[in-house]
Amino acid sequence: MSINSKNFKSLSILENILIIGNGGRENSLAWAIQKNELVKKIYLIPGNAGSERINKCERIKININNQTDLVEKLNFLKIDLIVIGPEIPLANGLADLLRKKGFKVFGPGKDGAKLESSKSWAKEFMKDANIPTSNFWKVNSLKEAKKIIQSSTIPLVVKADGLASGKGVFIPDSKDECLRAAESIFNGKFGNSGNVIVLEEKIEGPEVSVFALCDGQKFILLPTAQDHKRLKEKDKGPNTGGMGAYSPAPLLTDDYLDKITKEIIEPTINELNKKNIDYKGVIYFGLMLTKSGAKVIEYNCRFGDPECQTIMPLMDKSFVFLLEKCAMGKLTGSEKIDTPDKLSGCVIATSKGYPNKYKTGFPISIGKIDATDCQIFDSGTCFSKNGELLTDGGRVLSIVCQDKDFDRVFDKAYKNLKEIDFDGIYFRNDIGHQVRKNFSTEN
Ligand code: AMP
Ligand code: GLY
Repeated sequence: MSINSKNFKSLSILENILIIGNGGRENSLAWAIQKNELVKKIYLIPGNAGSERINKCERIKININNQTDLVEKLNFLKIDLIVIGPEIPLANGLADLLRKKGFKVFGPGKDGAKLESSKSWAKEFMKDANIPTSNFWKVNSLKEAKKIIQSSTIPLVVKADGLASGKGVFIPDSKDECLRAAESIFNGKFGNSGNVIVLEEKIEGPEVSVFALCDGQKFILLPTAQDHKRLKEKDKGPNTGGMGAYSPAPLLTDDYLDKITKEIIEPTINELNKKNIDYKGVIYFGLMLTKSGAKVIEYNCRFGDPECQTIMPLMDKSFVFLLEKCAMGKLTGSEKIDTPDKLSGCVIATSKGYPNKYKTGFPISIGKIDATDCQIFDSGTCFSKNGELLTDGGRVLSIVCQDKDFDRVFDKAYKNLKEIDFDGIYFRNDIGHQVRKNFSTEN
């Protein structure tokens, strides 16, 4: 599978690319971008220990919060296209600043990033556009929350309004737990991100991730993906940033995706336009496929992690052209991403204790890896003073493989994982269980 590269080419110079971010997501973006021969150099700010293993990549130390210094250095490096990976700089308006300085940027401005940075804003946005989502209450005080929780006849989910690194959502089993969650958020568990909470009707169904590359007016969809959010096998344990993923998600048939496009994706883009938001970047639709149809659980203003690592190996060298077109407002909307003849899967190796407290600084050993259609993207790694590869985060490595079917994909990923070790390494053995024919729940 590949993007149909014959259909389009670069609109401008694309020699020097900058990617902002330090995770597996950013490394996988760099890996897909370097495939294009027009790209001479990819800089990552700050990247991680795995970044420079990727062809054409160089890490640079610049404080992105020092705007004058940042702009001066990017001018010096003659950066042709900037891709902003994480939500925090987007929510802080970094894309706006860089655009004002004349750079081509893939990533929404502060206004568009609100889709992710304020859950209540996103819910009201969906209500305005009649986009299917669960019922909700925006709540400004604990007193108000108590009243709603106590009188509710349906199970509720509690969310901090602002950014909380994926930890601001509680799925309580009882009213008591629900109250405690609201209390902890109003008591400052997530700082200012918890000044407002959103109470939501709890809905049920499998979750899928859909990504639309958007140029402000037009969009195209990337292959779909399914993430595994829970820490433990059989989808138990606390929510994490994501323990693994596979792409495409067979649950989303062409017909289903068409319906989602009409009911959710197009109305989202139209509503952004109506609100005068010029969204140039990726919109991540976190969807729940309920019995009464697909509903939006959340929007993110960035690529998902680990969905991005999973999808990027399915892109060919024209991927960077898509990013460029989005940044320039020049998408036609008819760029074709061909149906894949390969499938992709990713397993994340984490530090013991993640998503709660964990220790870092453990040496990582990587043995004999089957590198055919297999990538290891570092998520949280650094080098010791002696150049040894060390763990440096909760999610440490993303092991990604492609093959003709998901059994082969995950056989290869797990075979490679046997060659990887660090103190306290943990990963789920059942990633892709929904799509592995040779996987038994007795495993
Ligand atoms: P979010 O950060 O909003 O994506 O929420 C994290 C996770 O919490 C989602 O992936 C769902 O598994 C779960 N979740 C969020 N909202 C709801 C809801 N209204 N009903 C049921 N589960 C939810
Ligand atoms: N994998 C879920 C996320 O990136 O938020």
